[in-house]
Amino acid sequence: MPLSVKHLLGIKDLTLQDIELIFQTADNFKEVLKRPIKKVPTLRDTTIVNLFFENSTRTRISFELAEKRLSADVINFTASASSVKKGETLIDTVNNILAMKVDLVIMRHSACGAPHFLSKHIQAAIVNAGDGINEHPTQALLDSFSIREKLGDVKGKKVAIVGDITHSRVAMSNIYCLKKQGAEVTVVGPPTLIPKYMAEAMGVNVTYNLREALEWCDVANVLRIQLERQNMPLFSSLREYNLFYGISRELLDGLHKEIIIMHPGPINRGVELNSDVADSKQSIILQQVENGVAIRMAVLYLIAGKKAEN
Ligand code: CP
Repeated sequence: MPLSVKHLLGIKDLTLQDIELIFQTADNFKEVLKRPIKKVPTLRDTTIVNLFFENSTRTRISFELAEKRLSADVINFTASASSVKKGETLIDTVNNILAMKVDLVIMRHSACGAPHFLSKHIQAAIVNAGDGINEHPTQALLDSFSIREKLGDVKGKKVAIVGDITHSRVAMSNIYCLKKQGAEVTVVGPPTLIPKYMAEAMGVNVTYNLREALEWCDVANVLRIQLERQNMPLFSSLREYNLFYGISRELLDGLHKEIIIMHPGPINRGVELNSDVADSKQSIILQQVENGVAIRMAVLYLIAGKKAEN
């Protein structure tokens, strides 16, 4: 059964069946990645461009590795080293790249809706690698895949998303993804970093009390303070933030059960997570990164297959 979408622009557009299909496909690719030769010829006739208008370490390398593991031809585009700096528009840039017979575009952009806009103006399929504060669909898929791997299922699990909810595309995609699978979600952070409409609009619990959220949850997905997206001070200092919303060893040891700690990266150590938590056996942060390659292989395979079908 194919995906219900031509592009992967956001989790909002996916059905539960799409998510399950991506996970089943990723299970198969995870097996491939355990072999001595971690490569399959699946996309050897496909050319993919990684179009990054914003900085990235994990997502960019993970997509490139996934493309290479599938034997695709890969082009990397960095806005800061391109003719965008000479005033070329987004559509002109992409159409010039597509004129060189590119099949699939992976795009990260600081503007919300940039990949949605592009999808209406070009023929190639697009995968959103993060657009502003809107969505980061492959991050949410790899997060849920990692919970499923660790706890057996996502349905019925209690997940706390901790920190800067307002400026986080990871939070938005995770909420859609977890709710579609039947998980319960609580967002926790300072009132200034949680949108007022959150509980009603997104169907999540809201609390400003970190200990209460951690006592309740099975999994805490901890977010970075996204200072680059804040245009006014929303809390007094990083030190104060760490005191009230940072996760320390002492806080975890005082809970009544052992919870799983996740983080999409990059971590600001000593702010949202202390090192003795980030590097502890409760943390599955590096498993998330590992699973990102299998998830992105699955997404590329399914989106490329959908394109061939059209
Ligand atoms: N998780 C994530 O998107 O990290 P990067 O910004 O390094 O890609």
